[in-house]
Amino acid sequence: MVDNSKHTILVVDDEEGILEISEEFFERKGYTVYTARNGVEAIDLIKRVKICCCFTDINMPEMDGLELAEQIRKFDNTLPVVVMTGYPSLDNTIRTLKNGVVDFLVKPVNLEQMELSFRRIVRERGLFVENLILREEVERQERLKALNDELIARVDEVNTFNRIMEDFSSSDSSHGIFSKVVELSQEVVKADEAVFYIYTEQDNSFVSIARSGLNPHGGEELSDGTRDLFHGVIKDDKPCLVFQNNGNNGISENIRSFMVVPLKIREKTFGVVTASVLSGARRFGDKDVYYMNFITQKAASAIENIALYENIYDNLFSTLYAFVAVLEARDPYTRKHSTRVAEIGHMIGKEMMCEDEELDILNFAGHLHDIGKIGIRDDILLKPGRLTREEYEKIKEHPAIGADIVGKLGLWDREQEIIRHHHEYYDGTGYPDGLMGHGIPKLSRILSVADAFDAMASDRAYRKRMERGKVLAIIKEGKGTQFDPEVVDVFLKIADRV
Ligand SMILES: [Fe+2]
Repeated sequence: MVDNSKHTILVVDDEEGILEISEEFFERKGYTVYTARNGVEAIDLIKRVKICCCFTDINMPEMDGLELAEQIRKFDNTLPVVVMTGYPSLDNTIRTLKNGVVDFLVKPVNLEQMELSFRRIVRERGLFVENLILREEVERQERLKALNDELIARVDEVNTFNRIMEDFSSSDSSHGIFSKVVELSQEVVKADEAVFYIYTEQDNSFVSIARSGLNPHGGEELSDGTRDLFHGVIKDDKPCLVFQNNGNNGISENIRSFMVVPLKIREKTFGVVTASVLSGARRFGDKDVYYMNFITQKAASAIENIALYENIYDNLFSTLYAFVAVLEARDPYTRKHSTRVAEIGHMIGKEMMCEDEELDILNFAGHLHDIGKIGIRDDILLKPGRLTREEYEKIKEHPAIGADIVGKLGLWDREQEIIRHHHEYYDGTGYPDGLMGHGIPKLSRILSVADAFDAMASDRAYRKRMERGKVLAIIKEGKGTQFDPEVVDVFLKIADRV
């Protein structure tokens, strides 16, 4: 026999006899049967017991069958209700359909017919539930996909932000940042062109200092409309988005979509960054404004940091140079020696077509090349007579000490190296490392000539200055032994200007 025990049936009727015969019939077939004499009792039961199907009479006291069907639908719209009535009317039929009744049986009800109806309903319900699960599965998949898409977009966003931050933190000059702002803006918001304008409050002007995109070497003059727009952005301190430009607002008609974002540093407007779409269907949206704002904010703090850093850099250099000045003051003969070495080194470097960065290093290292003498006692450093071997060894430590002092700050790696090797000889017999030929950094080779020339051409504690012609002759003689021949040649060429 089929196990029907999990099939629970509720029969609702005010006629006791009907309840009894249906109960007996279904129980005999193994079903679990509940009975109720009206709608109120039925609802009470449904709330407590899991029912598979409810058969109900229509005309009952307290709550009739249709009201019951309505209540059941509100409580659990998956519970099927079958209505049984002796007098089916069109009106009743329509109401039953409205109330979600799934079947309609005419009294006197044949019990076999009730069972058939039940079986059909259970089967259809199974399919319905299956469909429901399937639909939910599809919806779940769709939700998952949407979630996934959203995640990808978020990850993309986070990556963009990270890149913006990284890009700015790797910039070490303000100008580098201006270029990055426009490059990033152009790329991130997919603009055809991005421009950075610096704002000058005194004369209310905007000067473009960096641009990226279609017109890298400069665009047309700012139109009055664009200038007005910039002033508006600065006044309101808010980005401005011209989604669709029709030329009516004074902005060049060539521009299809336009964005202007202010860049402020410490509450002061520094400038504005613009992005333009010049062709195609693309139009900027709020998200683009959001990205541009992020870029300009990061740029602002990077510029601030660099300004701070440049200040610190200058401060440190001044501090170190003050040490050199004190050092030179100890020995009246060496006064201004470092400054002159820096100047001569710079002149040779220029003649040798050194890059600007190298010239800066020459200037820095020239000024500080002897800073290591700070670590040498006065009685050795200022000794008027000949040095003993030990004393000379002590003096020879100054390039390494100097490099160490400068290197401690961790800022000037190249400068440190140049200082360390300014007493190396071209033939490898110098100090501290005995480097040879082009193994000695070029800028050290330059400083070496400048240093030797100035030392010989000025008075020293232990001797008078040498006559100029003799100094030049000694330098010439040192070609290939103490000095780099190329540097000597260049130096001799410019010597009359020194
Ligand atoms: Fe030196």
